[in-house]
Amino acid sequence: MNIIGGPASQLLTGRVSDALKSNLMISEFKRFPDGESYIRILDDFAGDNVTIIQSIVNDSDFIVLLQLIDACNEAAKLNVVIPYMGYARQDKQFKKGEPISARVIAKAIEADCVFTVNIHDESILGYFDAKAVNLDATPMIGKYIKNMKFKDPLIVAPDDGAISLARNASENLGIDYDFLEKTRLSGEEVSIHPKNIAVKGRDVIIIDDIISTGGTMAETISLLKKQGAHEVFAACVHPVFSNNAILKLFKAGVKAIIATDTIDKGVSVVSVAPVIASVLQDI
Ligand code: R5P
Repeated sequence: MNIIGGPASQLLTGRVSDALKSNLMISEFKRFPDGESYIRILDDFAGDNVTIIQSIVNDSDFIVLLQLIDACNEAAKLNVVIPYMGYARQDKQFKKGEPISARVIAKAIEADCVFTVNIHDESILGYFDAKAVNLDATPMIGKYIKNMKFKDPLIVAPDDGAISLARNASENLGIDYDFLEKTRLSGEEVSIHPKNIAVKGRDVIIIDDIISTGGTMAETISLLKKQGAHEVFAACVHPVFSNNAILKLFKAGVKAIIATDTIDKGVSVVSVAPVIASVLQDI
């Protein structure tokens, strides 16, 4: 198999290629003086199977992905791996007049097979014309957590929408998991607490799909600290970290941040390469 790594997924592509012992193809990425993106695949692949790996963290990553796909139009079979798919949170029309941005992205991707990793909502897969498969990185986060030392650990999802992340990460670890439930006490008063398990004196690992502004995670950290948690750790699949998200987490009292390499950041200590490699070797 030939693998091409886009500029947003260089380290991850190297790791996937290493796991598969595949042909790692080198491309040139640069910008014209007016800012337009230029790409050129430097290795010859005509007629071969090609896999492109490129996260969409910003608009430019999306354009580069489309350019790479077009440059591969002579490939016998084309797989596209989008480890982090930006715009996925606009997966419906929340207000009249809005586009479904996740659909815009999906419809533009022309490939034989598309793979995403913990996409914000699996319903988005239906927007791709190609066969689309979503991979789960949370067991890899679980494996990493297993090797850490904790005091009576508990994995917590910040809301019931993320409960499957907490459940999958805790699988086979012998660590309890729970999610935060919002209970309305009165017109003005809302109480937020773990649904089933008290956190007092325990180390808590909060897990979410994305940390973007850090608002959700920082609020959850502060809340659990107030409820008597010992140390609080923040884990996510996609470390977007817009603006000063990391500082917000530290200000809220986080002990450490654990993330994957769907976006390559300093805290990307868990690699999703084994998950991607295992599906690519089967196709
Ligand atoms: C929400 O649906 C997501 O699962 C995350 O909780 C959210 O995207 C995190 O965003 P932020 O870091 O900006 O609070």
